Amino acid sequence: MSERTPQRVKITDTSLRDAHQSLFATRMRTEDMIPILEKLDEVGYHSLEMWGGATFDACMRFLNEDPWERLSEVRKRIKKTKLQMLLRGQNILGYRNYPDDVVTGFVQKMIERGIDIIRVFDALNDVRNMEKAIEVAKKEGAHVQGTICYTISPVHDIPLFVRVGRELVELGVDSICIKDMAGLISPYMAYELVAALKKELDVPIQLHCHYTSGMASMAYLKAIEAGCDVVDTASSPLALGTSQPPVESLVAALKGTPWDTGLDLSLLSEIANYWKEIKPKYDQFAEQSSGVDTNVLEYQIPGGMISNLASQLKQANALDKYEACLAEVPRVRAELGYPPLVTPTSQIVGTQAVFNVVMGERYKVVPKEVKNYVLGYYGRPPGEIDPEIKKKIIGDEEPITCRPADLLEPMLEKARQEIGRYAEKEEDILSYCLFPQVAEKFLKERAIRKSGVDFALLEEQDKEKDSPFTYHPV
Ligand code: CO
Repeated sequence: MSERTPQRVKITDTSLRDAHQSLFATRMRTEDMIPILEKLDEVGYHSLEMWGGATFDACMRFLNEDPWERLSEVRKRIKKTKLQMLLRGQNILGYRNYPDDVVTGFVQKMIERGIDIIRVFDALNDVRNMEKAIEVAKKEGAHVQGTICYTISPVHDIPLFVRVGRELVELGVDSICIKDMAGLISPYMAYELVAALKKELDVPIQLHCHYTSGMASMAYLKAIEAGCDVVDTASSPLALGTSQPPVESLVAALKGTPWDTGLDLSLLSEIANYWKEIKPKYDQFAEQSSGVDTNVLEYQIPGGMISNLASQLKQANALDKYEACLAEVPRVRAELGYPPLVTPTSQIVGTQAVFNVVMGERYKVVPKEVKNYVLGYYGRPPGEIDPEIKKKIIGDEEPITCRPADLLEPMLEKARQEIGRYAEKEEDILSYCLFPQVAEKFLKERAIRKSGVDFALLEEQDKEKDSPFTYHPV
């Protein structure tokens, strides 16, 4: 690679996605985004991350909103800035692998509706779980960003991360993101890692950190010195805690340097004022997410996972075992081959840890997801699974070695049969593939609201006539 001269740093704003997912359980409504969009479009951000992650599920489950309509509403008003989303590879926006026909349909539709940049990740950094999404997105003309999930373990080192980066570049990604979902990366590690990736790969590098441990702004600064091209921030009222670093501080810190972002602090402050007004609406969903938590460095548990653990223990009436569970998580993670803890592996490891502690005997109860993980259905674990634990979980069964999605039957047509009558558009079928129960409820309620037709009655009549789904409500 040639010698690089320092250049303007570009910034992705996460206020419309990761920031509220991290700070108030993904509850922000589209109506609270719309009034500020025009101003956001004026800032000169590299991109606005506004879709994907948990927002898709949360829209339908909690807000009674159609996530596809949110995308169109935002796109209508954002005329200059690129729209970005986060995709869990073959998991799409759900919690398990979906067949290729669903991945293909989903990626095509979101690009058609206006997504410009797709950040694709896999919890295990197994590129086989990302390749289909990358292939389709490339074909549809989107910018595809491949992701390296950052974690700390005896098997994760810079050569491993560089290898994942190279595999992604070979698949044709346009840029690479280092995803530090738990806020673990130290400033000096950020420097080393970015420098290594810049040396080995010829694509832009973006760094995505959470503020959890309090190191993220420092990590950004060192990463930028090492040549990092883009970083993720949020407007200050939606920043810090388990969210991203605040944009304003970074803009101020880089002002007058070769990395100057060129962003206008007074415009950013107008935007911050808007979010300050909106935020109290969502206070009820805020977790213990503000401030600095260095426990994350010891247990490597991301913020969302901590609250999951607490609620699982509460259900089991075992909140007094909270500390024991926190300590069990790294042990289970090591035995399972050091998966990075991010959806869905954070749930897999966390649930097993809770069972181990609450049952009083380790691996006495093993959830289906853990068994499937050990059988290879989530992909290749980064390290070796402890042979004794493996035997305990799957006995003499042999794990699969192929790409997990190769074993899945196509799903779209079956879904169309099941839910087609309530669908107004192809996107509704895709929503149903990902979240059958949540989407069915959402789509049925919408159809009743719009048409006033009692579908329960219609379904009864259908059964009598034995006619397949031919009735379309709108
Ligand atoms: Co994040």
